[in-house]
Amino acid sequence: MIYNEPWSKQHKKVTGGLQHSLSNSFSEPLTTEELINYALDRGDQKLVDDYYRHSLIYTPNGGSLDLRTEVANLYGPDIGPENILIFAGGQVALQTAADAVLDAESHSIVFTPGYQSVLQAPEHALSDTTRINLHAKNQWQIDPAEVEHSIRSNTRYIVMNEPYSPAGTLMTPDVQQALVEIARRHNITVLTDEAYRLLEHDKADRLPAMADTYEKGISASVMSKPWGGCGITIGWLALQDTALKQKLVDAQYFGTACPGRATELQAIMALRASDIILSKNLNIIKQNLVLLDQFIDQYSDLFEWVRPSASTVAFVKFNGPLSSEALGGQLAREGISIKPAYCFTDNIGDYKDYFRIGFGEKAMPSRLDALTRFVEKNKSNW
Ligand SMILES: Cc1ncc(COP(=O)(O)O)c(C=O)c1O
Repeated sequence: MIYNEPWSKQHKKVTGGLQHSLSNSFSEPLTTEELINYALDRGDQKLVDDYYRHSLIYTPNGGSLDLRTEVANLYGPDIGPENILIFAGGQVALQTAADAVLDAESHSIVFTPGYQSVLQAPEHALSDTTRINLHAKNQWQIDPAEVEHSIRSNTRYIVMNEPYSPAGTLMTPDVQQALVEIARRHNITVLTDEAYRLLEHDKADRLPAMADTYEKGISASVMSKPWGGCGITIGWLALQDTALKQKLVDAQYFGTACPGRATELQAIMALRASDIILSKNLNIIKQNLVLLDQFIDQYSDLFEWVRPSASTVAFVKFNGPLSSEALGGQLAREGISIKPAYCFTDNIGDYKDYFRIGFGEKAMPSRLDALTRFVEKNKSNW
């Protein structure tokens, strides 16, 4: 396996330690104290006792039953604890899935711009990969006909993000079903990174999880985005295909096969408090989105977007004279960080003016104020 250079490496050099981060993609971070208090408020003393007293013996490969049970509750009747595999974070889950499904004889289909670990995992697994470009003029929707056209006799894997990162848009149910039907016809495994699922701004827009809707589908998710639990470092895969699950367990064996019990217990605490945590986070997200709406309205000659309908992120186009990389550099000098297009694609072409902005945190309004001051100061030169 040969890893590519991380696209966000340059970004981290430019923006590390800046005061006003509009780069983050997680919800308001939790504290362990909050998690313990949620458990105590529920009368879940046993969970708190386990947290303080658990043995630091190895956890079972693939995650403990109590955590897998909580995760399985997020899915429908075809997904039980035996269909869940726990990982030490989301990225390693994405790579392990690609390693288990693919080899050097295989072909995969991915979409760009995107989260690098999603779209390059098949390449890291040595698979020949077709990248399909998505476009704002199509509302960042995948065209199923283009996917079908890219399928070869050795295509084994289609990997996508839904809700879509970096734009926070949702696939239409018709597109999802068309993709599942194409994959089924060609016997292709589909992995959907659903890191932002459960953060639909209107719950009615939520799509079925890939693991629920397709017998060869895999749903990947992580504690960091919906729950604000980046430091819990727990991610998972959900899938109906038990033969593939065994291959995943075998591949996982050579990585971090046994997640830390403390992190498992923190994940259980967060999952059992999901109702409170997700509604708190969605309130922050929706309030911040109102401010972003105002910003885009006020500066509609300079910025445009496909308005996000899920997640904590938006992909904004700057219509001024600078690329998003140059804009990001100027902003960094003023203590403000955004994520330019190069963090999401190495095919900058059509995307050079786009940048991602994150709006999941309580401090976002003051960061947006800093951006507004920057725009006011510079707009007469644009
Ligand atoms: C779309 C997407 N998937 C997966 C991950 C991985 O999450 P983690 O870094 O918490 O493992 C991220 C993190 O940024 C992400 O943005």
